[in-house]
Amino acid sequence: MEDTKTIAKAKRGLHGEIMIPGDKSISHRSVMFSALGSTPVHITNFLHAQDCLSTAACMRALGASVEFSSETELTVCGRGLHGLQEPATIIDAGNSGTTLRLMMGILAPQPFLTTFTGDASLHKRPMGRVIKPLRQMGAKIYGREQNTKLPITIVPAEGKLHGMVYESPVASAQVKSAILLAGMYADAPTTVVEPFTSRDHTERMLEAFGVHTKKEGTAVTIEPVEEFKAPEAIEVPGDISSAAYWLVAGAVVPGSSLLLRNVGVNPTRTGILDVLRDMGAEITRENERTSGGEAAADIRVEASQLHGVSFGAEIMPRLIDEIPVIAVAALFAEGDTVITGAGELRVKETDRLQAITDEFNKLAPGSVEASADGLVIHGGTKVKHASCFSYDDHRMAMSLAILGTAGEGVTIEKPACVNISYPSFYGTLSSLQA
Ligand code: S3P
Repeated sequence: MEDTKTIAKAKRGLHGEIMIPGDKSISHRSVMFSALGSTPVHITNFLHAQDCLSTAACMRALGASVEFSSETELTVCGRGLHGLQEPATIIDAGNSGTTLRLMMGILAPQPFLTTFTGDASLHKRPMGRVIKPLRQMGAKIYGREQNTKLPITIVPAEGKLHGMVYESPVASAQVKSAILLAGMYADAPTTVVEPFTSRDHTERMLEAFGVHTKKEGTAVTIEPVEEFKAPEAIEVPGDISSAAYWLVAGAVVPGSSLLLRNVGVNPTRTGILDVLRDMGAEITRENERTSGGEAAADIRVEASQLHGVSFGAEIMPRLIDEIPVIAVAALFAEGDTVITGAGELRVKETDRLQAITDEFNKLAPGSVEASADGLVIHGGTKVKHASCFSYDDHRMAMSLAILGTAGEGVTIEKPACVNISYPSFYGTLSSLQA
């Protein structure tokens, strides 16, 4: 792909049906957990994107068999809960925080050495939030900057890890999952308590492997696991975080009507539907169903005049990855939108609060103000064409593309990062304007 990409303003409404690609969080977990089983698991609608391919490569490096029969279909077979093997070289998590953080939980209890690396963005992201609790369980994990950053090395612990009750200062599914996965190998039950409940894909998928977790309020407990029995198949639902771009585009580009097929609607992920509805968007669910322990539906969105809203910390885990594109909806709404409790955005693939502020102000001068943990977006600010930087962050690139489509067009510097979670994004966008 070129170093820049120009997206045109939509001349009329966006129309069509979009098959939403597989959920990134669930795709990661499908390969990781299957690699801990001892019988083959057939995975369908897997997200064929860089982040999930990083996970597949990690699991192969640890001795699991991972065979793709098409881009989105694969069979994974492990050698059992205690069958992972010492990797022959350094493991590369690429751009993927989920790969690195969950893998630390899986590898902390193993009787061999692993060293992790990743890309420039992942080297800047905070890993102490997982390393610290795992060390409290007895894990021996070392990293740069006092055990908080990549590169990271894990060496065998002395004996089993110790179960514990951990009160996490952040609502993070990656932190929760890492501790629960390590807890499967511990000598006693392990509990994670979160400030607010984060996405529960780990707990749901563990159920399919015969492992029960117990939920009480925002606490989740796992018992040491004896038997880990892989299911024959896992069907990955579509990713609501990818559907988010079309939900916003459909709502704000006048005259649009879009049908999004196969969207995962796990209640821990549907914050964007609640916020867009509060803003006045016309969104309806059809064909609601369950597949592999996860809810899915088709979603229809029609263009409507939106208005500004306020939301904060409590809903944040349910829409954390959607803030950049929700900010686009807010820009085309009437009145101000006030977002608080979003400090976690400063430690995503880039500092997204800063990136949104700087880039939106290039396209709509004076439209966004950032605070330490949030944004104020002045809806209705005049929009023009500008050249913007993606920060090599997939969700920034896709949000800027939707802003340009709804506004006066945009030129995106470093557009190829969409391959991290949505390789067909630009193709789908242009097909809706045909
Ligand atoms: C993810 C959890 C979220 C999310 C990330 C994927 C996961 O991170 O931002 O894109 O798959 O568990 P945190 O829960 O750590 O905020």
